[in-house]
Amino acid sequence: MGKVQELSIVLLLCMQTALALMCRECKSYSHQKCIHEMRTCTAKDGESCLTVRLWISPSSVHTPNDAYSRCQENCTTDEYYYGDYTILIKCCKKFDFCNDIAVPSDEWS
Ligand SMILES: *[C@@H]1O[C@H](CO)[C@@H](O)[C@H](O)[C@H]1NC(C)=O
Repeated sequence: MGKVQELSIVLLLCMQTALALMCRECKSYSHQKCIHEMRTCTAKDGESCLTVRLWISPSSVHTPNDAYSRCQENCTTDEYYYGDYTILIKCCKKFDFCNDIAVPSDEWS
């Protein structure tokens, strides 16, 4: 194989790595810790990293009562209220693991 082909293959591999967004995947959190297996998912085309947080006063967005993370297609950030609960749906693509529960949600985009 010629040097040029080798180089282009290396570049292609690098680009694929750069394009593939990795996200946290956890079915449930308690006290900011994943209470099931913490996994990694790779966001495909049209997917974002998602974390949904749910809390009721005196808990807050920083200490949600429940939360989960995953890769989500057509992800839309939203916030709504269900009785006394607040539910915050946050989508991000900014950096790998941007949906980590420890990342302050106002730093997401
Ligand atoms: C995402 O959006 C595309 C284009 O609007 C649509 O075709 C697709 O069914 C949507 N997928 C989901 C899971 O909502």
